[in-house]
Amino acid sequence: SRIHKGEYLHFMEKEIFEQPHAVKDTLLYACGKENDDFSYEAFSMSERDFKDIRRVRIIACGSAYHVGYVLKSVCESLARVPVQVELASEFRYNHPILEDGELVISISQSGETADTLAAVKEAKKFGAKTLSIVNVKGSAIAEESDFVFYTQAGPEIAVATTKAYSCQLVAGYIFSILLAKAKGKIKDEETHSLRDELFLLPGKIQQCLSLDGEILPMAKKLKDSDDIFFLGRGLDWAISMEGALKLKEISYIHCESYSSGELKHGTISLIEKDSPVIALLSQEELAGKSISNIHEVKSRGAKCFALTMENISIDENDFVQNLSVPSTHPLFAGSLLVVPLQFLSYQVSLLKGLDPDKPRNLAKSVTVE
Ligand code: G6P
Repeated sequence: SRIHKGEYLHFMEKEIFEQPHAVKDTLLYACGKENDDFSYEAFSMSERDFKDIRRVRIIACGSAYHVGYVLKSVCESLARVPVQVELASEFRYNHPILEDGELVISISQSGETADTLAAVKEAKKFGAKTLSIVNVKGSAIAEESDFVFYTQAGPEIAVATTKAYSCQLVAGYIFSILLAKAKGKIKDEETHSLRDELFLLPGKIQQCLSLDGEILPMAKKLKDSDDIFFLGRGLDWAISMEGALKLKEISYIHCESYSSGELKHGTISLIEKDSPVIALLSQEELAGKSISNIHEVKSRGAKCFALTMENISIDENDFVQNLSVPSTHPLFAGSLLVVPLQFLSYQVSLLKGLDPDKPRNLAKSVTVE
């Protein structure tokens, strides 16, 4: 059946607004009912399969690759299992070493990306077990993998992914919780409180959807920039990678995502008077360090914008504008921060008179190497 934009101007806008629903459906897919535990079977795996995982290798392209960094952070923090993230297009040619007990996870919206599919095939040659997190039922990557988790984003039409990315994050959180549980790293009580927190996400994403009005002035201030710098530490860095990619893809502005602490080792040389910097601040324990990095760029003339989680206090004088999202468990912060970043790229694209649904040179799914 044909899919319509309905009341929305673009598919991208429609898909941004579908996120609370898509995330909720993905959570329900993993447990059946809101009050039930997440099940290993949602990943078509058994508890034994989870127990046997000694390392995780994530392979993906584009936005799905950025999900990999979030998953790494969450999985290593909760389950204490080492995770390595690799670009699918590099994996095969990098003389891969796969160890016993290493699970290869491929992440893909379409399930048809040629680079990712080839990497899955390569991993199988090494005898590795493969799990795919895909959105399209019966797609090539899903068929090729030993295990599969289907994100419940529904059809995604806009080239720049929004709701599929959000569902992939949630699939990654659930995978990490199950792995932590199977490995005995978290108690039942914590498993339940994490699950309850995840079920609050759709409502909090819904709250973030009302930020679009506040983002417009920021989009106006940024639309004529030649370069925009994104800064973050830890999970904030992982999310900033996606924020920068999204904005590049549909506004054609050069954006660079940089780890706050690494800044002084390179990119700071590019900062000059009025260089726009977008700082992500959702991790309370890292906030102090990140703020001092913001002072470093400010003192060189940068115009800083902040995207914070509500519980983080900042000095408003440091920023041209500050936007905040509701509080959640710090490991899940990315699911909220990404919403204003999606709006920002969408609005900048529109202000520049571009079509956000069809960025030049890009395809929704790339089936050639
Ligand atoms: C293409 C799209 C990207 C996407 C990537 C991976 O290059 O333009 O937006 O992230 O493919 O797609 P997949 O379907 O594997 O998630």
